[in-house]
Amino acid sequence: MRINLDEAIKYISQGDVIGVPTETVYGLAASIDNPTAIEKIYTLKNRPRINPLIIHADQQKNITPFIQTFPPHYEALAEVFWPGPMTLILPVKTHLIPPIVRADLNTAGFRIPNHPLTLELLKETGPLVMPSANLSGRPSSTEPMHIEEDFGSQFPVLDGGLCEKGLESTILFFHTTDKWVILRLGSISPEEFIPVLGYSPQIMNLSSNQKPLSPGQTFRHYAPKAKLFFGEEGLYDASFVLGFRERHYPKNKRIICLGSLKDPKEIAENLYKALRQVDQEGAQKVWVDMDFPSNGLWRTIAERLQRASEH
Ligand code: TXA
Ligand code: MG
Repeated sequence: MRINLDEAIKYISQGDVIGVPTETVYGLAASIDNPTAIEKIYTLKNRPRINPLIIHADQQKNITPFIQTFPPHYEALAEVFWPGPMTLILPVKTHLIPPIVRADLNTAGFRIPNHPLTLELLKETGPLVMPSANLSGRPSSTEPMHIEEDFGSQFPVLDGGLCEKGLESTILFFHTTDKWVILRLGSISPEEFIPVLGYSPQIMNLSSNQKPLSPGQTFRHYAPKAKLFFGEEGLYDASFVLGFRERHYPKNKRIICLGSLKDPKEIAENLYKALRQVDQEGAQKVWVDMDFPSNGLWRTIAERLQRASEH
């Protein structure tokens, strides 16, 4: 059910959970002051309680009161990348943030999203917690219809149209090595942080990390019901292909085009929609063309496809 800004403000103030657009993906929003509503988010998504939520605000001054200590470059990062697709994990004053938001950690994730409607909403409601608006494990939602697929047609969604970026925010954490590290690849590629930090933040290797710094990264993710296959052999068996406009694929396959190889932004925007589409069309086996560059945004695209193929 599509709702407007005034209705969205009312729903949130009543303690309801609603779908909210951002420039990355849609979120499921509840007020940070309403632990009962936040509980509902976990239940709706079937999300493990050990997976904390990101706090979204409209301005830095509504984030700073929560912060215990400010890591180096905090201000420069905030200045350059907010509003935008960057989440910072920061040490917090725990008495100001309900434990359910931060899964009892002494840190929390913060982001100022770059979506005009949502900035208006945040201005009225104050900080909102929002995980991506999908059932746990499923591809994220990049348009209202995806939320209705997962949560039913009566579920209220503030309609902000298509998400511009199509991939989640990049998550940064100030590590004990005295540098920021990337806990989740996202819409901002590692190289883009060099002008601000003076280095490209390392990507945390999850498999080598015994106690994951970002709990959510250990769960199955972004996956359609169909099985995804990579590499030459898989192509023979699959009846669906996820591929690129410039390439030719066997004519007997159903080809779903992700966009142009010249435009990773277009691929990012279409990725989750395509992963949902293969399920809608009842695909069993899908071959994915993984022959694309490995720099910049392509790296996030490859990581998401890799995760989506894990069964
Ligand atoms: O683009 C985005 O970030 C979207 C939109 C709605 O803002 N949100 C989003 O939320 O992707 P979610 O819940 O799907 O993913 C948040 C990730 C999870 O992997 C979670 O474990 C991690 O952020 N996270 C949250 N708080 C954390 C914390 N205190 N320490 C480490 N990781 C944290
Ligand atoms: Mg998510």
